[in-house]
Amino acid sequence: MIVLWMPGCEHLAGIACDLGATAGRVEVHRFPDGEQRVRIGPALRGEDVVLAGSLDWPDDTLLPLLFAASTARDLGASSVGLVAPYLPYLRQDRSFQPGEGVSARYFAALLSRAADWVVTVDPHLHRIRSLGDVFTVPAEAVHSAPLMGEWIRTQVRMPLILGPDAESMQWVASIARLAQAPYAVLAKSRAGDRNVVVTLPDLERYAGRQPVLVDDIISSGATMAAAIRALRTAGWPAPVCLAVHALFAGGADEALRDAGAEDVITCNTVAHSSNALDVRGLLAGAVSRRLETRPAARAMS
Ligand code: R5P
Repeated sequence: MIVLWMPGCEHLAGIACDLGATAGRVEVHRFPDGEQRVRIGPALRGEDVVLAGSLDWPDDTLLPLLFAASTARDLGASSVGLVAPYLPYLRQDRSFQPGEGVSARYFAALLSRAADWVVTVDPHLHRIRSLGDVFTVPAEAVHSAPLMGEWIRTQVRMPLILGPDAESMQWVASIARLAQAPYAVLAKSRAGDRNVVVTLPDLERYAGRQPVLVDDIISSGATMAAAIRALRTAGWPAPVCLAVHALFAGGADEALRDAGAEDVITCNTVAHSSNALDVRGLLAGAVSRRLETRPAARAMS
């Protein structure tokens, strides 16, 4: 087996050690006009190839990944799997307005054509209930809740786990159980990409606890910042913020700092200075399972 990491995903190379596999990298050259050329150095004939590439900024990262998968097959790989710790485009999971497409489905179809299987971390599933509803190859999600729960349990005294919106209930409840702490969710309304209003439920009975905001994604930071501000305005201590995927689109770091976050902690699904929770072990476990169950998986696809 050989694990090849895409540019910007060096932090995922350690998956190879966990798997007892060889590690290498996919070289990508960008021409002045923006086109990208992919080159893979290591010999791949007969190898099970695992491509590791987080798909943040997908319009830049997807094409080289698809080209890398095709190149690996041309070089004789016996299988090509994809470890994509962050899966983008899942928010558009239905046609909200007349004329809109369902990007989640289109994106999953592209990956399904390129890879024999896909492994990811905490995909943003809402109206799509499972990855199997949109992927046509085996697709497995691993969950960072145990890492987050343990971090909170050991690092925060008397935590109160808070999700910024109703959608976050699914991971907030399990993280709170693992952290042995109470939880609640806030109410969010979004009027635009960076225009978010968050309101608090009645939290009086939790007075004296340290608020810990938990979300799956920090993108513009508008959601987290609004939740921090709502808590601060209501007289709560500066909250600790945890998220799985640290997208941090332009200005998000600043937005959280300005709003008054005590600390920001994320998983290393997307490389960022806030990464403190390591998902590589979870991913390596999923890859092993995937390759062990390969004959059955192939029959399914
Ligand atoms: C939305 O439902 C997600 O769980 C996140 O709350 C959202 O993606 C965060 O986006 P932003 O940082 O742009 O507010």
